Formats: sequence, structure tokens, C-alpha cells
Amino acid sequence: MDPKESAGRAAAARVEPGMTLGLGTGSTVRWLIEELATRHSQGLSFTVVPTSRQTAELAAEYNIPLTDINTIEKLPLTIDGADEIDPSGHLIKGGGGALLREKIVAAASDYLLIIADEKKLVPALGQFPLPIEVIPFGHRQVQDQLLWSGLFAQVVLRQAGERTFITDQGHYILDCKVQRPLSNPYQLENQLRSITGIVETGLFIEMADEALIGYTDGRIEHIFF
Ligand code: 5RP
Repeated sequence: MDPKESAGRAAAARVEPGMTLGLGTGSTVRWLIEELATRHSQGLSFTVVPTSRQTAELAAEYNIPLTDINTIEKLPLTIDGADEIDPSGHLIKGGGGALLREKIVAAASDYLLIIADEKKLVPALGQFPLPIEVIPFGHRQVQDQLLWSGLFAQVVLRQAGERTFITDQGHYILDCKVQRPLSNPYQLENQLRSITGIVETGLFIEMADEALIGYTDGRIEHIFF
């Protein structure tokens, strides 16, 4: 089985009857949704807070009940994917462009369970370009500032075909390749947060509680942070 599929399907067992949970975005989460749809059709009742339009549309196709994040105070669980996971459980997210809603939902959750294939485990974050969400007004100035900062070797405005990629919140994304793997993600996050025009970064520091990793040999590993 595809390791993303085995991780996604295995995570469905964590959904308890009557639960309202956060539901992430991406190809691993698609497998989770498929498995949840089967369990829902077999009588498991639960409600999801989606982290993107894509996830909301997919869940709705399967008749999975959805609710708005503003209707809840706290979520007991959110299950989401990641682009990179370091040994401390710090993450890079946003490859699918949903990082802002994903971070809001993760912050509102008591427990963040990450589902991923083994390729996402890295000794240090930074091979994957860090997605940074910016407002369209003055995005060029933010891009220049990030380049001049010396923090990044490359800062690329994300495209969707011929057009600029637009997030669910109507923002742009700058994909930023760090000069070298991150020894101190806290420092980078603080530096980025002080730049006007940046809405959010794809660095998820101290947010994940557990990673459920699928391996090509069929194994599933649980890593606790
Ligand atoms: C979307 C994300 C995804 O969780 C991340 O890109 C992983 O995706 P996939 O499961 O397709 O590898 O952060 O914004």
C-alpha cells in the first residue's frame, strides 16, 4: 500500500463517536477522508472543521458533516499532513497552500496528529522551501526584503499554471529556500513575524504532538513529541 494511504487510513481509527475534529489538507489527508467516509457510512458519527476549501469540498462529496471553526471553542484533535518533520516535531507546512487555516485550526486543537510518509522525516528543516503567506499589496517589497535579509537563497512567488497562486484567504505565497538547514527555527519564525506584509509562515513550531508515519515496507510508526 502507498505509505501515504496507510498513514491516512490508520489515522481514521483515532476518530471517536460524536467527535468534532480538525481536518487538514493534502494527498495524505485525502486517504484519511476516504477512510472516514467509509466509517461514516457504517454509522460512525463525527463532524469536521476543514482547513481548506479543497478539504471542505471533498468531505461534503462524501456527506461528512462540516462545521465552521467559529462554532467551537476547542478541538480535541486535528489530523493533518506535513511537508517536513524534524526530530523535535517542528514542521514545515503549506505545500498545498493551506497553511494559514491549518495553523489556526492546529492552534485551536488539544492534540495535533501528523500523518505522512517516511520521506517527510528530516534531520533538520529546510530542504523543502518554506511557504510564507503574504498579502498581495506590496508582495514585491516583502519578496525583496526576504531576499536582502540573506536568510534565503531563493524566494519565489508561487504560481498556479499561468497565474499567481491565491490562497483560500485571498493571499499570495512566497516559497523560500533557506541557505542551509535550520538549526534554530524559533529564531527564523521571530524574524519573519516582524516583517510587515507577512500574514503567516509554514513553520509549525512545537505544535505537533504525534506523527503517524507510513513506510514503503508497510510499517506504521508512531512518533511522540
Ligand atoms: C497543505 C499542507 C499539507 O499538509 C502538506 O503539503 C502535505 O501534503 P501531502 O500530504 O500531499 O504530502 O501543508 O498546506
